[in-house]
Amino acid sequence: MKKTVAIAGATGAVGMQMLECLKERNIDVNIRLLASARSRGKVIDGLTVEELNEDSFNGVDYVLGACENDITKMWMPWAQKAGCVVVDNSSAFRLDEDVPLVVPEINADDIRKNSGIIANPNCSTIIALVACDALKKEFGISRMVVTTMQAVSGAGVKGIADLENQIQDPQAPRQAFPYQIAYNLIPQIGDFDDLGISKEEWKMQNEGRKIWHDEDLLVNCTCVRVPVLRSHSESILLECENEVDVERAREVLEKAAGVQLKDDPKNKVYPMPLDTTNQDDVFVGRLRKDITDPTGKTLSLFCCGDQIRKGAATNAVQILEKLLEQ
Ligand SMILES: NC(=O)c1ccc[n+]([C@@H]2O[C@H](COP(=O)([O-])OP(=O)(O)OC[C@H]3O[C@@H](n4cnc5c(N)ncnc54)[C@H](OP(=O)(O)O)[C@@H]3O)[C@@H](O)[C@H]2O)c1
Repeated sequence: MKKTVAIAGATGAVGMQMLECLKERNIDVNIRLLASARSRGKVIDGLTVEELNEDSFNGVDYVLGACENDITKMWMPWAQKAGCVVVDNSSAFRLDEDVPLVVPEINADDIRKNSGIIANPNCSTIIALVACDALKKEFGISRMVVTTMQAVSGAGVKGIADLENQIQDPQAPRQAFPYQIAYNLIPQIGDFDDLGISKEEWKMQNEGRKIWHDEDLLVNCTCVRVPVLRSHSESILLECENEVDVERAREVLEKAAGVQLKDDPKNKVYPMPLDTTNQDDVFVGRLRKDITDPTGKTLSLFCCGDQIRKGAATNAVQILEKLLEQ
């Protein structure tokens, strides 16, 4: 019998992309769209949006979650009571012990350990780990120093509206960001703790350890919101256990799942967010040895990935595909 998949948060940036991914990957399921009362009756791609309530999950096999944490925590018990398996994009359950945190190219086997919830990692974390996984296998990675340049759509439909409105009128009312984002950038994503580290900045180390099964991984991360509509970029310095070789790094990246190597700087070939927009692969380039490290164990790179696709919707739908295969 055909399975039924509900998208919770179907009218948001991630939810709408999930629907597109289900269709373009020809996943043969019944689809239900759920959102708030504000969206009840809206028609998307011929499907009518229903208000998410306690009864929404009756008859649903799988839920693709695309709501903020508080909303997700509200509906998760309803989905569990209805016996659904949930693939969730919020950060509400990512670090819970019984919740696998999965990037299918890296740790698909973890999906089997789920007890009803599988979490999609943070978008910048997915992009960085897809870019670096083959390098970790080749050289061993002990520490990463990362600066993210995160697109406004990472803050959902309100983030997109802020940039589009402020390009027309810099004084337009702000919905998503504490400062004007058009013609500017903001070195804060999430609240800061007493160490001066934001919630978003902690995610790459905490989630990276769980996905790579490496409790010793160290990550120093600075997250910056930039006036780019879509696709996050990241400048990454990798401290490795072994000496790095740039040619070998290129070879392993050429074969890495989910990666496209864009590394011919003399011909101005490198990853850029406009080029990865609406694509599932993570582009990696600007590979170079860190000449300030005399041990030769440090590699620099630049990567970009569409955070609504691979950083959220595509990754979740890939997990769903694995669940449907089981
Ligand atoms: N945007 C990204 O690039 C990205 C990447 C990775 C992970 N994520 C995570 O994915 C989740 C969704 O993000 P987003 O960017 O898609 O957000 P968004 O564009 O703001 O969409 C939020 C969705 O939640 C729904 N919603 C709000 N209140 C609700 C309620 N009371 N009951 C049911 N549904 C409700 C909204 O429905 P209405 O339209 O009816 O209000 C909308 O469909 C968040 O946890 C986010 O952190 C986002």
